[in-house]
Order: sequence, then C-alpha cells, then structure tokens
Amino acid sequence: MTNSDKRLTKKDRPSPINKEIIIDDEAVLISVTDPKGIITEVNDVFVKTSGYSEEELIGTSHNIIRHPDMPKIMFKIVWEHIEDRENVMALVKNMAKDGRYYWILTDFITKVDADRNIINYTAYRRPVCKDVQDAIAPLYKALCAIEAVADMDASEKFLIDYLENIGMTYDEMVEDIIIKYCKKAAALGFGKHLKDEFKTMSKEKKQSFFNKFFGIK
Ligand SMILES: Cc1cc2nc3c(=O)[nH]c(=O)nc-3n(C[C@H](O)[C@H](O)[C@H](O)COP(=O)(O)O)c2cc1C
Repeated sequence: MTNSDKRLTKKDRPSPINKEIIIDDEAVLISVTDPKGIITEVNDVFVKTSGYSEEELIGTSHNIIRHPDMPKIMFKIVWEHIEDRENVMALVKNMAKDGRYYWILTDFITKVDADRNIINYTAYRRPVCKDVQDAIAPLYKALCAIEAVADMDASEKFLIDYLENIGMTYDEMVEDIIIKYCKKAAALGFGKHLKDEFKTMSKEKKQSFFNKFFGIK
C-alpha cells in the first residue's frame, strides 16, 4: 500500500471527543520518519496511545493522529525548523483512533549525514500536565479561529504579533511554559526558581536538560 492510499480521507477520520487519554508520566512516545515525514518506526507506547496498529502507522504521515485543535501554523514552524536541520520543540494535541486526545511536549530532531543531507527525523514526546495544556490552548484556539476564516498568513501574522507582545521568540515561549507550568520539569530541577537562570543558560546546558526531560541518552 502506498502512503497516499493510507492517508485518512475526511470520511475515515475519527470525530474528536472531549476525553483525555492519560499517559503514564514516565512514558516517552517515539516515532521516526523519512525525510518526507513518512513514519518508518514507532515505539510501543506511541502505538498503544494512538490506538492504531503498528501496520496502520508505518508508511503513513503523522497527520493520521492530527487533532483539529492544532493550528496549521504550528506544523509550518516545525517543518521550517527541521528542514533547516534545527531541532525544535512543540506542544502538540494529538487525536487517537477513538477520537480521544492527548497533549505532549514533542522534541523534533533531524539526523543528517556527513554532507548534511537529511537521513531522518525523530520525535520524542512526553505527556504534559493540565497546567501546561491550559497555558498553550488559548493561543492555539485563537490561531485555529483565524485559520477557519482566513489563510495561514493571517495566523502567522497573529503569532508574530503575539510573540512580539510577550517579548519572546517561539522557542522561548515553549521553554517558558515548560519552566513555569510543567511539574515534571520542576521535579528535574527546572522549576520556577530557575526561570531566570534558564534565560541566560548556554544552548548546551539547555539541551542537556531537555535530553534528560525526553529520556534521550
Ligand atoms: C518526526 C515527526 C513527528 C511528527 N509528529 C506529529 C504528531 O505527533 N502529531 C501531528 O499532528 N503531526 C506530527 N508531525 C507533523 C506531520 O508531519 C504533519 O505536518 C501534521 O500532522 C499536519 O498535517 P497536514 O498538513 O497534512 O494537516 C510530525 C512530523 C515529523 C517529521
């Protein structure tokens, strides 16, 4: 079966239901794609949470678990980063096969060869608590509302203005939410009290924290 055969048509898509899937706090949901974003590997907890079988997931796009509450502009940001070989994090609401949702913080990592050609992309996902969800959801809601009546340029402009107003880059906004609201980050020693230190922290030190957060060795 080719990928285009596997892509869910509108009619096959589950309808979202307002029920959360509670994921084990220690779980790391991992998937790997080829450079086009076609899933090539998934770990057990990713499969189990999605409600799809491994066979249904391999060979298709992550669009299969896309939740309608996710604004298009967020995926544009992700793809722009990873195609530029830059790692990026995003707060993502996904939809399982039965329509239930789950929120995760996702770290997207691009693997390149010696000539900087893209070999694959890996996503590491950790569940996030309700406070983190509540911190990002209103922004996504506003972006989706814009995309429902206008194009992605309009939601991008809204996001740029929003970030300018809060005085942060996109990456800083995600980090800020994690540091302020994520209980797991706090447990790892990156709670509110380290917020100021985090601002001036080297990229390497930050990376080492997030590697710990995502269980990346
Ligand atoms: C490694 C990797 C992991 C991804 N994980 C997700 C994910 O968990 N949920 C999701 O909706 N999209 C994910 N995406 C983005 C999808 O490829 C896609 O851009 C998104 O679902 C929007 O699809 P659409 O433009 O067809 O609507 C991931 C992409 C890559 C490369």
